[in-house]
Amino acid sequence: MTRIAVFASGNGSNFEAIVRQANGYQVAILITDQPGATVLKRAEVLKVPAVVVDYSRFKSKKAVEKQILNIIQPLRVTWIILAGYMRILGNTLLSSYPNHILNIHPALLPSFPGKDAIQQALDQGASETGVTIHYVDHGIDTGKIIVQEAIPIPPGADVETVASAIHQIEHRLYPTIIARLIKEESR
Ligand code: GRF
Repeated sequence: MTRIAVFASGNGSNFEAIVRQANGYQVAILITDQPGATVLKRAEVLKVPAVVVDYSRFKSKKAVEKQILNIIQPLRVTWIILAGYMRILGNTLLSSYPNHILNIHPALLPSFPGKDAIQQALDQGASETGVTIHYVDHGIDTGKIIVQEAIPIPPGADVETVASAIHQIEHRLYPTIIARLIKEESR
C-alpha cells in the first residue's frame, strides 16, 4: 500500500476528503506548521498521526525540511500532498521527492497564483475560475498542471459562495487524482 503524507496549515477539509476517500493509498501522517490548526482536530477524529513542525524553531528552511524528512522517510512515505499548506517548499524536500509532490490551488493557473486566489478572481471581474492540481516546483503555483476544472462566477457572487463551489470540486477531484497517479505508477 502506497503511503502518503498530507501537509496542511488550516481548516483541512481537503485533508479529510483525502483520508475518507483513500483508495490504493494510506495517509501515513499529517504534517502541519500551525499548532492551532483545525486540521489537527480532524486528524485526531480520523485517527491519522499528526506532527506539528514549528518553523520558528529552526534556523533555516533546509533545517526544517531535514526534520520533516526525518519524520516521513522512516514511515516509507512516497508522495507528499499539499492541501492548503502555506509554506513554499525548498530544495531539500523537492529533491527528495521528484515528481511526487502535488498541490491543489483554487484558481485556473496560471491565473491567480499565490494567496487569496478566489478574491483575486472576484477583484478582476473574472467570469470563471476553478481548481488546479499540479506538481510542485520551486515557484509559487508554477509546477506542471495535471488537471483543471472550471466553474462559472455568477454576477454578484461573493467569496463564500465561490469558495464553497470550489471546495466541492476539490473534495472530489483531489482524492481521485491522487489515487489515479498512484495506480498508474504501480502498473
Ligand atoms: C483549498 O481551497 C486549496 O485549494 C488551497 O487551500 C484551501 C485549503 O482548504 N490550497 P482546506 O484547508 O482543505 O479546507
